Amino acid sequence: MKIFHKKSDLIHFVKFLKAESQFIGFVPTMGALHQGHLSLVNFGLKNNDYVVVSIFVNPTQFNNAEDLEKYPRTLERDVELLKTVSDSKIFVYAPSVEDIYESNTVSQSFKFDGLEYEMEGAFRPGHFDGVGTIVKRLLEIVQPDHAYFGQKDFQQLQIVKKLVELHKIPTKIIGCPIFRASDGLAMSSRNERLKPEYRAAAPFIYKTLKTAKAKFGTKSAKAVTEWVTKQFERQELLELEYFLIADVKTLKPVKRKSTKKTYRAFIAAYADDIRLIDNIALN
Ligand code: PAJ
Repeated sequence: MKIFHKKSDLIHFVKFLKAESQFIGFVPTMGALHQGHLSLVNFGLKNNDYVVVSIFVNPTQFNNAEDLEKYPRTLERDVELLKTVSDSKIFVYAPSVEDIYESNTVSQSFKFDGLEYEMEGAFRPGHFDGVGTIVKRLLEIVQPDHAYFGQKDFQQLQIVKKLVELHKIPTKIIGCPIFRASDGLAMSSRNERLKPEYRAAAPFIYKTLKTAKAKFGTKSAKAVTEWVTKQFERQELLELEYFLIADVKTLKPVKRKSTKKTYRAFIAAYADDIRLIDNIALN
């Protein structure tokens, strides 16, 4: 498997592939790869000749220094895992911080039509400026035809679609379904850090989302939100940060339900000191 550490080498290679009229898919990641990431790679392989997977723990999107420091870095294992999918159709771009940022690790500041103020934007100040900065740079380096993002980070997906639209970046952004463990917990690189009792408690998040979805059929968003809040109060190991039912286009909380709109429910919760997020389509 080809592994590039320098953007100049990757750019050179991509140019060669494009000259041969090859379609290039792109899956940006922060590594510690799991089945969720691999599902994106598989979507990419279906619609492209080659898939570039970037593995880069992006410092500018962490608003917590300890979270950045503790983020797992497992490049060798990641490469082995990718090889099980395809050795010849996948390329890895694993740059250093210097290769991406040179000496300036400051985020560009973005406007995403208000999407950046909701949910993760409200609880993780600066996070989406960091995501916007790195995704824009990576798309400029890789110049893929298609780029694949998980609905697991639904707000990020909507923001990246907006980034590409506002900055006229010629890549099609494709959202992929959430990949879950057999007990329902959404796969995440952070799950590895959960102590056993917290790992055992964590599927409660998806279970609650599924019941919230059923209740949303007949009840108001406010009533569902109160019900979810109560469920978490009864749960000792998980601390709810937010639960929100929002319009998928604006990500603004729903006030009055409309049959013409599409809604999703979003949760962020702490299991010990580990922050988990999940979401579900409601209609
Ligand atoms: P990371 O958390 O590594 O996720 C990389 C991609 O995998 C994201 O698009 C994310 O939504 C997707 N993903 C993660 N878990 C998933 C799951 N269980 N099912 C489906 N997709 C899943 O998201 C980031 O990295 C970074 O913010 C990044 C976009 C790479 C910018 O640094």
